[in-house]
Amino acid sequence: RAQDAAAGEKVFTKCKVCHVADVDTNKIGPSLHGVIGRTAGTHPDFKYSEAMIAAGKSGVVWDEPTLTTYLHDPKAKVKGTKMAFPGLKKDEDVANVIAYLKQFSQ
Ligand code: HEM
Repeated sequence: RAQDAAAGEKVFTKCKVCHVADVDTNKIGPSLHGVIGRTAGTHPDFKYSEAMIAAGKSGVVWDEPTLTTYLHDPKAKVKGTKMAFPGLKKDEDVANVIAYLKQFSQ
């Protein structure tokens, strides 16, 4: 089934306690505005974990494949991340939330 940004907006309610995507404002987590294509750990005004900064330095760029892996199991993809979220179980939820995020990226 094709990715569905409207369904992804509903999935994003799980992220909203810590993130916004429609504007460039950091909360508990970094703004996800423009996150597609961004190197991990590089929002200029957010204080990341050492682990997330190291992930970016090792070449992790947030695109569909890297986000899919991270959002299924954040702590497996970035060992030591301070993102306190267990991950999304359903492939469909991951695909849809990425479709939602794409609306706020180039
Ligand atoms: C980092 C997405 C849920 C807190 C990130 C990053 C992404 C992301 C893509 C990396 C951003 C970057 O490198 O600039 C999401 C999505 C979520 C979600 C799509 C829901 C499905 C949450 C929740 C929290 C949270 C619920 C708080 C309890 C954080 C924090 C970071 C982060 C603190 C920085 C991690 C670090 O520096 O190690 N998130 N997130 N996130 N997120 Fe989330």
